[in-house]
Amino acid sequence: MNRKYMAEPYRIKMVEPIRETTKEERITLLKNAGYNPFSLKSDDVYIDLLTDSGTGAMSQDQWAAMMIGDEAYAGSRSFYRLESVVKNITGYEYFIPVHQGRGAEKVFLPQLVTKPGMYYISNIHFDTTRAHVELAGARALDCVVPDCYDIEHWHDFKGNMCLECLENTILEKGKDNICGVIMTITNNSAGGQPVSMENMRETKKICDKYGIKMIIDGARYAENSFFIKEREKGYQDKDIVDIARETFSYADAFLMSAKKDGLVNMGGVIAIKNDRELFDKCRTYVVPYEGFPTYGGLNGRDMDALAVGLMEALDIRYLTHRIDQVRYLGDRLHEAGVPIQYPVGGHAVFVDCKAFAPHIPYDQFPALSVTNAIYIEAGVRAVEIGSLLLGRDPDTLKNRESKMELMRLTIPRRLYTYNHLDVVADAVIHVYEHRHELKGYQFDYESKILRHFTSTFKPI
Ligand code: F0G
Repeated sequence: MNRKYMAEPYRIKMVEPIRETTKEERITLLKNAGYNPFSLKSDDVYIDLLTDSGTGAMSQDQWAAMMIGDEAYAGSRSFYRLESVVKNITGYEYFIPVHQGRGAEKVFLPQLVTKPGMYYISNIHFDTTRAHVELAGARALDCVVPDCYDIEHWHDFKGNMCLECLENTILEKGKDNICGVIMTITNNSAGGQPVSMENMRETKKICDKYGIKMIIDGARYAENSFFIKEREKGYQDKDIVDIARETFSYADAFLMSAKKDGLVNMGGVIAIKNDRELFDKCRTYVVPYEGFPTYGGLNGRDMDALAVGLMEALDIRYLTHRIDQVRYLGDRLHEAGVPIQYPVGGHAVFVDCKAFAPHIPYDQFPALSVTNAIYIEAGVRAVEIGSLLLGRDPDTLKNRESKMELMRLTIPRRLYTYNHLDVVADAVIHVYEHRHELKGYQFDYESKILRHFTSTFKPI
């Protein structure tokens, strides 16, 4: 029997009760949180779709693996087990564990910034990646394909790098001023949209032509591999792990927040194909920032859980259900006429709040307004991905206007059921039907770096 959405390929053997609040309570809770959902206590959230990062459920095999974790400072068995899995999947020579993705960014990205006035170019930098580029004294430029902004229409690979933009940017800035090219897979800020293998290959050719390093920001590389298998000609019969290996073959380094496709609650990866000098530099810096290079801020047991999780995330049945859940929520909203980034990506449904609340200008944060409304409606926590997150221009300090104002309904891995997603869909559809009542927000307090996390707001 062919089902439209695959049922859970697991049984639930441990449960975590979740609390429901009343609408009146939520109005007060949100006010006390300065209208910033990041400041809500998770206990006051019924269904938490803030992020898919570190929020998934581990498997029995991962919990079992934790018991054999070896807590040695230097050279633990856990490290070597994880190293062999990372090397097996990537085909790379060098591996350094870190505590999470931004740890990898902090250690790795400054190594390629060799003078003032340099740039990283990405399909789209994730926000912490952008922050680390800027903290390292460089600037972050994005070159995603225009299809990405064609929100209503289907394109197979909306996350792709625009090759023309990439090459023009290299020529305009000068190849010696480019630190590296970062391919974010899937492209989180574009809506978790995939990047095709062909695009990886062509991007690598341009990098090689100008002698520039290509780096994969691969927090969701397994989900990206799934989309390649599903949509790209010639990949239907390939195994996910082989698709992943081919993907890595086109890059020189791999940075990963393992809190996503590593299926762990904490962890990160730096892997380097074969540049010994770069590896040595990273190994030097990881010590003061993250910890000794054989633990990098992780416990032995964390590394063992990750070694198992990395392989589980490449399982086709796991991935099919994972992507089906996201698709299910997307389909429910799409069928109700709610504007979303279509098709949905791998980890979230992105609601187009420019179309949802066109009466709210970008600097009053329409996606924050929708996000707050669905919290009040149903206790569902989502997150703004728009002009608030984009922040101010580091040179002019002006508010940057994001091309898209999105609310991300991020689905944690193996955590919620289709029934939970129905609650979410009903809430979003209800708010959509009352969208004309939505109001914008202004800052009460604005923090300087990554302002969306800690700022507070007032409704206008
Ligand atoms: N790169 C991408 C593409 C990410 O999505 C993230 C995190 C990071 C790097 C940084 O990793 O959180 O482990 O330090 N994304 C989370 C999210 C936070 O909600 O999308 P981290």
